[in-house]
Amino acid sequence: MAALWGGRFSGGPAEALQALNDSIGFDWRLAPYDIAASQAHARVLRRAGLLTEEECDTLVEALAVLGAEVASGDFAPRPGDEDVHTALERGLVEKLGDLGGKLRAGRSRNDQIATDLRLYARDAAKGLTADLVALVEALSAQAEGHLYDPAPGMTHLQHAQPITIGHQLLAHAQGFLRDLDRLRDWDKRAAVCPLGSGALSGSSLPLDPAAVAAELGFDSPAPNSVDAVADRDFAAELAFIGAQIGVHLSRLGEEVILWSSQEFGWVTLDDAFSTGSSIMPQKKNPDVAELARGKAGRLVGNLTSLLVTLKGLPFAYNKDLQEDKEPVFDTLDNLALLLPATTGMVATLRFNTERPAASAPTGFSLATEIADWLVRKGVPFRDAHEVAGSCVALCEKESLDLHELSDEQLEGVSGHLDGSVREVLTVEGALAGRTTPGSTGPEAVKAQLAQVKDRAAEF
Ligand code: ARG
Repeated sequence: MAALWGGRFSGGPAEALQALNDSIGFDWRLAPYDIAASQAHARVLRRAGLLTEEECDTLVEALAVLGAEVASGDFAPRPGDEDVHTALERGLVEKLGDLGGKLRAGRSRNDQIATDLRLYARDAAKGLTADLVALVEALSAQAEGHLYDPAPGMTHLQHAQPITIGHQLLAHAQGFLRDLDRLRDWDKRAAVCPLGSGALSGSSLPLDPAAVAAELGFDSPAPNSVDAVADRDFAAELAFIGAQIGVHLSRLGEEVILWSSQEFGWVTLDDAFSTGSSIMPQKKNPDVAELARGKAGRLVGNLTSLLVTLKGLPFAYNKDLQEDKEPVFDTLDNLALLLPATTGMVATLRFNTERPAASAPTGFSLATEIADWLVRKGVPFRDAHEVAGSCVALCEKESLDLHELSDEQLEGVSGHLDGSVREVLTVEGALAGRTTPGSTGPEAVKAQLAQVKDRAAEF
C-alpha cells in the first residue's frame, strides 16, 4: 500500500528515506489504541452527518475484527507500512474498500499519534501503579517482622544512631508511596484528549471533541489544537516519574547489595532471587539489586533524551516528535521487568538479625544519648555535645565502649555526668525513647506501618 501522503509526489520515497522515516518498527504496540480512537472517530463522523448509520456500523465492526486480528497476529504490518496508522488504514481498506478511506476525514496522524500515546501511557501507568503497590506491600510485610530488630542507622555510611530494620524498610516504602502519588497526579494532566485537533488547527467539519474524549475515557478535550499536537509534557513527565522510581529502586538495590555482602552479612537472598557464577561455585550474587541500580541509568537517560528532543522544537508537530515513543516504551518495559523482580527479592529476604543487632551500638552510636540525657538535665546542647564528644575520645583512648566508663571516669569528664547515664546507653533504651511521630521507636514505627498500609490501599 502506498504512503498516506502520495498524491503530490511524482515517485515513491527512496529506500533510505523509508528506512529512516518508518516508525512501524516500534509503534505497532499502539494498534489497539489507534483502533479504539478510530471507532470513536467513526461515531463522531456519523453524528456530524458525514457517515450514514450503516457506514458507521460497518466501520466500527470492521475495526473490531481488525483489532482481534491484530491481537491474534493474523493481521500484522508489512514492508511499506510507514507507521501504525498506515498499517491499520491498509487493513481497513482491504476489508471495506473505499469506505475504509472515509475515516481519515477530520483527523490527522498528528492528533492520532498524540491520542494513541496518551491512551497507551495511561493504561501502562495502571500496571505500574499495581506493581508499585505490590512492592510497598512487600516492604511493609518485611517491616512488620522487624519492628523491634535494631540495626546501626547510618549517615555517610558511618554508624550514626541505632534504628530498627522495620523503620529503614519503611523509609524505602515512603519514596514509592510518593511515586504512586505522582502517577495519580500525572494522570489528571494526561487525561486530555487531542483528537479533533487535526493537523494543528482543529477541523472545519462539525466534529465533537468532547464526546470523543469522553468515549475514550479522557476527562476533557484539548483546549488548544496547536498545543494538543505539539505537547509531549505527559510523556516527559511520565519518563520523569519512571526515572524517579528507578532512582528509588537503585537506592534500595544498593542497600541490599551492601547488606548481603560478607562484610555486612545482614541479609540472605533467596536462591530464587540470586544468581551464581560460571566459575566460582560458592558465589551467590544480588543481580536483581544490581540491575535495579543499573537500569536507573537508562531510565534517567530516557527522560533526558525526551527532554532534549522537545527542547527548541517549534510548534506544532515536527517529525522529531516521532522520537517520543521509544524512551517512554523503554521506561515502562523496564519497570515492568524490574518492579516484580524487586518485589520478589524484598519479599523473600531473610534478615540475619543478630548481625545488625550486634553492630547497632558499636562505633559509639549511643553518644547522642549522653548529650540528650544532659539536655534533659538542663545542660545546653552545645555543651552537652562537647561532653559526649569527650566521653567518646576517652573511650577511644582507653579502648572502652561508652557504657563501660566507670563512675569516676564519667564524673572526670564533666560534673554534670554520673553513673546513672548508663541507663540510656542501651540500644533498646535509645529506640524505646524515640516516641515522637516518624521516629524509629517501635511504637512510632507501628503507627507508621498502619499509615503505609492505608496509603497503599488507596491505589
Ligand atoms: N509516525 C508519526 C509519529 O510517530 C505519526 C505522525 C506523523 N505525522 C506527520 N505529519 N508526518 O510521530
